[in-house]
Order: sequence, then structure tokens, then C-alpha cells
Amino acid sequence: MSILLTGADGYLGWPTALRLADRLDERIVCVDNFARREWVAESGSVSATRIEEPRERFESVDNLSLIEGDLADHDFVFQLLETHEPETVLHAAAQPSAPYSSINGERALYTQRNNISMNVNLLHGLDECGLDETHFIETTTTGIYGAPHFPIPEGGLSVDREGGSDDVPFPAMGGSWYHQTKSFDAANMRLADSQFEFPMSEIRTAIVYGTETDETRAHDSPTRFDFDYYFGTVVNRFCAQAVAGYPITVYGKGEQRKPMVSLEDTVETSRPARRGGPLRRRRNRHLQSGDPTRGDRRPRRNDRQGRRRVRSRYRSETLREPAQRGRRAQNGNGKRGVPRPRWRAATGTRGGHP
Ligand SMILES: NC(=O)c1ccc[n+]([C@@H]2O[C@H](COP(=O)([O-])OP(=O)(O)OC[C@H]3O[C@@H](n4cnc5c(N)ncnc54)[C@H](O)[C@@H]3O)[C@@H](O)[C@H]2O)c1
Repeated sequence: MSILLTGADGYLGWPTALRLADRLDERIVCVDNFARREWVAESGSVSATRIEEPRERFESVDNLSLIEGDLADHDFVFQLLETHEPETVLHAAAQPSAPYSSINGERALYTQRNNISMNVNLLHGLDECGLDETHFIETTTTGIYGAPHFPIPEGGLSVDREGGSDDVPFPAMGGSWYHQTKSFDAANMRLADSQFEFPMSEIRTAIVYGTETDETRAHDSPTRFDFDYYFGTVVNRFCAQAVAGYPITVYGKGEQRKPMVSLEDTVETSRPARRGGPLRRRRNRHLQSGDPTRGDRRPRRNDRQGRRRVRSRYRSETLREPAQRGRRAQNGNGKRGVPRPRWRAATGTRGGHP
């Protein structure tokens, strides 16, 4: 049995790999194409922390295997899944920078091709390899909610229209070419859930800050810390600027309000259910329909006449600081509701990408 961790060389991937290696007996198969290292170099920057060369980094930890490969390549993904038959796929690989994806059309297309291809390859790969028990977990972003003019719904929107009603997914108001990739992934996972057997979860993560976890300290192996315009997330960049004595680069009117989450909480929340981790499979929440043929299983709707509600095994979770859970964001006047939308701010996402 193994766990497949994609994007394992990344900011979130590396501390996640260390935590899984330290807490689980299963082999952790780590995959990355090291593109993040190239993007940051291409941007003329460097991680503030010392990052070991990939081989050195992964070989220093028992229980981790490293496979270099491009997850946007269908054949590579199929071979990977067929060989390792993972019981969990933790998908954290992505081009995650909104500003990078917005440099020009070429970067926008690269970001969309890269991210969406990986998601589709993994979903179809699991199905084609018959891995019906494998739990697929993808790290995505709260950024896909965008900044609507109403409180953001958890799950879907109930729409009543011309005598009919339905639950409509609400994930697709991302404000950058990168965020749209995660909206596509969410829509594709919803579709995949209606067609494929395996359970799947999506973790919508807020903007992550922090440099260390227990394991990065114990192994003396830090994760990367980027502070540049393209790849530094907002809190990390503000801290770097403050330490270096530079003015903090506040964008727009400085009125943006964004959810944040620590690196420690993010890594802990991504841990699969075994050994007490928080993410559990939902094997018992099967979708049913009158027609058992694959590809035609559709969820029954929850209408107001009291028909049976079928819960999907697919689920999304929003991950943000514990203090913010259960309470809506307050707008600038201290009133309940989401902050007034600022399209420009959301589009630029210059305060840092989640
Ligand atoms: N960092 C945050 O604040 C934050 C917030 C919300 C969501 N997320 C999401 O979490 C995930 C990880 O983010 P991160 O900040 O660690 O990013 P990251 O760039 O540091 O890590 C992603 C890793 O994926 C790898 N990768 C990209 N394309 C690949 C491909 N085609 N094949 C193989 N490997 C590939 C990169 O080389 C990199 O190491 C992403 O999905 C991101 O959208 C991050």
C-alpha cells in the first residue's frame, strides 16, 4: 500500500511529505517535475530558505520515494497509478500563482493546460486503472469563490426559476487564470463523481503563511520561502519586507480582506484519515440512480417536496484559520456579509495567491 503525493517538492508539498513519512507506515510516493524551481528562477528570484537539490532532499528521509515526471502527461500518470496502485492520492501539484498566470496569454494557457490536465489525467487514470477504493484528495483554493455581492454559500446555491428548482454549484468566480483552473477542477470532480466509483474530496485552502512545521524543524529541512511578486504569498512577503526594512507593498486601497491559514494547520488538515488524520473516505455515500450503467449515475435532487436527499461522496472543505470558521467575513463597516466586491483586487490577487 502507498500514498501518492503530487507536487511534493513544493511549498506545501514538502512539509506534507515529511508529515506523512513520519506518521504513516505506508510508502509515500512523491511526484514532481520541479517546475516551481524553474518558475521562481525565471522570475529572477530565489527561495529565502536553503532548498536542497531534489535527490538529496528526498533521499534523506526514510519512507519517501521520489519520481520525477510531468503529471500533465497522460501516459506517465497512467503508468504511475498502474505501478503503485495508491490507496490515497493527495494532489497538491499545480502552477499556483495568479500573477504568474496573468503575465501574458502564453502563461495563462500554460497554467490552464498544466493544472487542468493533471486533474483530468488523475481522475481518468484512477478509473481506467480500476482503483475504485482509492481516495482522491485535491488541494484547491478559497479563491475560486471570487468576490460575489452576497454571502458565499457552502456547497451550492438553491435556485428557483420558472417553477423548477435545483442546487447549482457555486465555485466559479475565480479572479485569475490560475483560479479558474481550480474552478474547472471542481466542476470536473463533480462530474467525475457522477461517473466514477472512487471517493474524492476537495480541500479549498485559504492563503497559507508560515515557514516551518514540527517535521521541517526535526529534519532540519525547510520548505521553500518565496517573497517575490509572483510567488510570495502575502503574509510571507510582508514579513520578508518588514525584516529587510522595505515598505510593505499594499495594493489597491489596502482594503482587501482575505482568509489565511497557517502552514502547520494546512499540512495537518491534508493528512488522510489513517492514524487519526482528519480526511475520511465516504464509502457509504454512494450516488444511486435508476440506471446502473456507468456514466449515467446522477445524484437525486433534494427538492422541497421531501424526496430523499442523496449525499455525494464528493465533498469540498474550506480551510481557513479556526477563529474564522463558523462566522462570516465582516465587511469594512463591521456588518455581516462579504466585503464589497473589488474586481480589480480580486483579478490581480496581488495580495498573494492562494
Ligand atoms: N500556498 C498557498 O497559499 C495555497 C493556498 C491555497 C491553495 N494552494 C494550493 O495548494 C497546492 C500547492 O501549492 P504550493 O503553494 O505548495 O505550490 P508550489 O508551486 O510550491 O507546489 C506545487 C508543486 O507542483 C509541481 N508541479 C506543477 N506542475 C506539475 C506537473 N505538471 N507535474 C508534476 N509536478 C508539477 C511544482 O513543481 C511544485 O513543486 C496548489 O494546488 C495550490 O493551488 C496553495
